Amino acid sequence: MRTAAPNSLPLATAAHRTWNFCAGPSMLPADVVVEIRAELPDYRGSGQSVMEINHRGPIFQGIAAETEADLRELMAIPPEYAVLFLHGGATLQYAMVPLNLAPNGSANYLVTGYWSERAVADARRVCRLRVAADGKSNGYTGIPSQSGWDLDPTGAYLHHTVNETIHGIEFQEPPAVGDMPLVGDMTSMILSRPVDVRRYGLIYASAQKNLGISGVTLVIVRRDLLREPPAGTPSMLDYRAHLDAGCLLNTPPVFAWYVAGKVLQWLKRQGGVPAIAERNRRKAELLYRQIDSSGFYVNRVDPGCRSLMNMPFRLKTPELDSLFVKEAEGAHLVNLAGHRSTGGIRASLYNAMPEEGVRALVDFMRDFERRHG
Ligand SMILES: Cc1ncc(COP(=O)(O)O)c(C=O)c1O
Repeated sequence: MRTAAPNSLPLATAAHRTWNFCAGPSMLPADVVVEIRAELPDYRGSGQSVMEINHRGPIFQGIAAETEADLRELMAIPPEYAVLFLHGGATLQYAMVPLNLAPNGSANYLVTGYWSERAVADARRVCRLRVAADGKSNGYTGIPSQSGWDLDPTGAYLHHTVNETIHGIEFQEPPAVGDMPLVGDMTSMILSRPVDVRRYGLIYASAQKNLGISGVTLVIVRRDLLREPPAGTPSMLDYRAHLDAGCLLNTPPVFAWYVAGKVLQWLKRQGGVPAIAERNRRKAELLYRQIDSSGFYVNRVDPGCRSLMNMPFRLKTPELDSLFVKEAEGAHLVNLAGHRSTGGIRASLYNAMPEEGVRALVDFMRDFERRHG
């Protein structure tokens, strides 16, 4: 039996912590990091770390069951929905969704930014699809008005990226499209605010934003929508095979799954999704108010669909953007550079970012404007 390491190492505290505004992997709740550190060498007296346990043994089975139960409770997931923890990131879902939901048919896609473009590009390889609307001609600054959507009524589903992490565009409500099942990529907004799961046929999200660390991907799917994938589809791409195997078709990402469980427990302690949503709204308001307070910082997204999680903005010149990012780093505000495809600046305020971190950013923005405005 190993002796547990002392839990007295100082963890970064608010006084000297680096505030990490990365779009993902992103910051974890400090309490979660402390808890993981405490039980890492000896998981609950088992004499092993959680990184070494047998994924088919009772310890991991307990972690998996608790994680699913907590997720079901936090998101009020009805019993007719299956919950899967998979590999491959949200990116693999771009292919798995059409293979399993529209094996011989077609599907509809809304393109509202970089990630929905990526979803379309991969889905096209495995199914027929129609792009019902595309916001590219408006520079991805909003969601194309529904009156102009060209939906294929025979489509098996409508896919949309609920929050475009790079362009900072978020659907405030699920699109209302009658009986057509909705598929939502919720990678960058899952658990940030209440979502009525019943409005969706399938929800997917990789974990490295609001659900812990990269390596595990969540899929929530209404069981009756699952179809047999086309002949020749490998079992790893078949939701039903994962379901039948209890998500142990192969060795699962044990550690990432365990961290997701810790994050869910933390979220419950915060008061659940409504409470974190209230905090997220306050954080977003604080930052958008600062961005809009003068013409110095500019966010071009239609205010009706601004993201609660990812706020892109720009200064007058790319040189000033770079200086902002560099000086911010000096003030322990890190990972503020925009995505390589867009440039500019982007602050991601996921669940784990405390209001204190946002206030530190806003104070820095005021000071930077005073010096360079
Ligand atoms: C909205 C969205 N979808 C998909 C992805 C891709 O996720 P992964 O890298 O886990 O495949 C990302 C990554 O940031 C994302 O933000």
